[in-house]
Amino acid sequence: MGPPHTTRLIDGFGRQVDYIRLSVTDRCDFRCVYCMAEDMTFAPKPNVLSLEELHAIGAAFVQLGVRKIRLTGGEPLIRNNVMSLVRRLGQMEGLDELALTTNGSQLQRLAPELRNAGVNSLNISLDSLNPRKFRSLTRHGNLDQVIAGIDAAVAAGFPRIRLNAVILKGRNDDEVLDLVEFARQRGIDIAFIEEMPLGIIDEHDRALSFCSSAELKQLIMRQYSLGDQSDPEGTAGPARYCHIKGSGDQRGTRVGFISPHSHNFCHLCNRVRVTVEGRLLLCLGNEHSVDLRAVLRAPHSTHQHLLDAITSAMSNKPEKHYFDLSDEPQIVRFMNTTGG
Ligand code: 5AD
Ligand code: SF4
Repeated sequence: MGPPHTTRLIDGFGRQVDYIRLSVTDRCDFRCVYCMAEDMTFAPKPNVLSLEELHAIGAAFVQLGVRKIRLTGGEPLIRNNVMSLVRRLGQMEGLDELALTTNGSQLQRLAPELRNAGVNSLNISLDSLNPRKFRSLTRHGNLDQVIAGIDAAVAAGFPRIRLNAVILKGRNDDEVLDLVEFARQRGIDIAFIEEMPLGIIDEHDRALSFCSSAELKQLIMRQYSLGDQSDPEGTAGPARYCHIKGSGDQRGTRVGFISPHSHNFCHLCNRVRVTVEGRLLLCLGNEHSVDLRAVLRAPHSTHQHLLDAITSAMSNKPEKHYFDLSDEPQIVRFMNTTGG
């Protein structure tokens, strides 16, 4: 547990916001089938926040009491010169945790540099250990490159590394145990994320491919002994973790389940997101947002205007998300625009 909250960001339901997810690009070198359509239109360059603007937003949130920033995308590591932003954030007074979500494609090259810059936590997507299936799920990804990236991250000694897997029925549901074993051998965590209806994709029917956390957990428990949920109150965020018991597992792999459909964690939500176009999104599953880019780029804009815009936005944070797979997605933004 960290120190008592000092955040000045408190929403209309009394939730304290001390965590932001900052998207540094909506572009990606992959096209994962659950995340993007094959053919995507990305944000026009003039709408994209500069690294300077991203830094200003990060600094404003930290000044208001945010303790954790996660950089996301798209694929954050393909943004030009992203390391300069990472280094500046890594030195920011008041920030306890700098995290990054990545598809792993650039990690072989960048893992040591990220660690040195002060990144303490990595989430790396990995949905398959079969090169052909990996390619078909990511459309462009190269499995060997990603595995080399994961191993480079393990070698670089990040305090926390978690693999993220989205399991789709008929696609990679036969790989759940292999993925757990892969994580266990490396002493890192793995989380299984239920697919969310973000963006309109036509590659598969989300209702048919859906795998619930409950079925995955049952499957894993046939092979591994999972301890009780380590954080029954769920205060660590949407992932509910269980330790794998025994078998000489030194560093202690945890298996997490993120279940936006079956387990509503909204009452504990402590986060907001900022898209690369500067839209402050108050909830993953709702469209409520505030245009921070307009504030930043207004004539005579000051840092105080930014602080005020962020503080007053908190009262717009919705109480909860509603996801329904049987219907058209209510949220037409894709995950890459949302900031994974
Ligand atoms: N539903 C669930 N997870 C998704 N991700 C991307 N799109 C979706 C979706 N529609 C996952 C990626 C990545 C994480 C940040 O979000 O696999 O690991
Ligand atoms: Fe890229 Fe991540 Fe989306 Fe895959 S899930 S297309 S890696 S942003």
